[in-house]
Amino acid sequence: MLKEISFQINGKRKTLKVESGEILLDVLRERLNLTGVKRGCSVGECGACTVLIDGTPVDSCIYLAIWADGKDIVTVEGLGEDGEMSSMQKTFVEEGAVQCGFCTPGVVLSATALANKKQSFTRDEIRVALSGHLCRCTGYKKIVDAVEKEMEEQL
Ligand code: FES
Ligand code: FES
Repeated sequence: MLKEISFQINGKRKTLKVESGEILLDVLRERLNLTGVKRGCSVGECGACTVLIDGTPVDSCIYLAIWADGKDIVTVEGLGEDGEMSSMQKTFVEEGAVQCGFCTPGVVLSATALANKKQSFTRDEIRVALSGHLCRCTGYKKIVDAVEKEMEEQL
């Protein structure tokens, strides 16, 4: 059954009809062309499909689109301004925390949500905050290095 939903996506209001069983990942990728949202495992294990919903990282592969009604959603395409990467994205590049990049949009979004708390976190706490993300390339050290450096700079 189709249901009309309305939400904020990367700062813009969007209204569209979705099937009751449609997942948010498909709506974002297939209908809104936001392909920075990656499909990995499809079962909530890898974090590649992470988006921010009302500021909290969520696996969009296990989130029904109808639940997005009234929410504020940010994908990696919504970070940065005027075609410039966000400060967190730049630090990932500078620190070599990106290799194939498949996991990166989700990791950067979770790291951004953590940095937005404006508190200091230990490396172990950063690891816990990013534990929902699987990366097959970087071995995690450079990711944690980048997040730690960026968070220190933002405090
Ligand atoms: S694709 Fe959603 S958690 Fe893996
Ligand atoms: S950079 Fe390749 S999966 Fe993380």
